[in-house]
Amino acid sequence: MSDCTFAGQLAKYKIIPVLVLNDIESGLKRCELLCKNGLPVAEITFRTAAAEEIIRAASKEFPEMFLGAGTILNTADLHRAFDAGAKFAVAPGFNPTIVKEAMANRFLFAPGICTPSEIEQAYELGCRFFKFFPAEAAGGVKMLKAIAAPYKHLGIQFMPTGGVTLENAAEWLTLEEVAAAGGTWLNKADAEGIRKAAELAKTL
Ligand code: 3PG
Repeated sequence: MSDCTFAGQLAKYKIIPVLVLNDIESGLKRCELLCKNGLPVAEITFRTAAAEEIIRAASKEFPEMFLGAGTILNTADLHRAFDAGAKFAVAPGFNPTIVKEAMANRFLFAPGICTPSEIEQAYELGCRFFKFFPAEAAGGVKMLKAIAAPYKHLGIQFMPTGGVTLENAAEWLTLEEVAAAGGTWLNKADAEGIRKAAELAKTL
């Protein structure tokens, strides 16, 4: 049976490129490279002014992509992202105002967490999928295992980002509670680098 939860949808790809892009042209090129090399998924961060327009253009050009928005720090950007065609959104931190707005609009949104208190507060608002950020700096796999343990019975899932690389992605993705792992290394990777990530994802 296919899993249509947010975590389940990202788990189809496992490795999620986190993209910081400055203009539509480079954005479309990167999306094309990802699609051609077996990884038709990306989080396009709202850290640049071009993010909204890149999502709008790439959603039209590559409808097969599972394209989301990252670094959503306010509800205005949340709406801009989904209006532009984003299928999901994430943030580095837990902002209850954004979570509530996403819930009210039935947007797929994962807040960032790195403490039990954040998990509990976001869970209470209805979140079942969380970005674990900054994954490596916060203590790596050992930290996520420890932090997730008391909540195992809730069936919540995580996407570590921050320090995830091709080299350590497999370690993260073998954790039961990790649906996908994201990283900016795929922002610069060439075709071979993307293929390697896509191949690794298939083995996990
Ligand atoms: C993110 O927004 O998820 C992080 O900036 C990704 O961190 P990385 O650059 O270490 O992959």
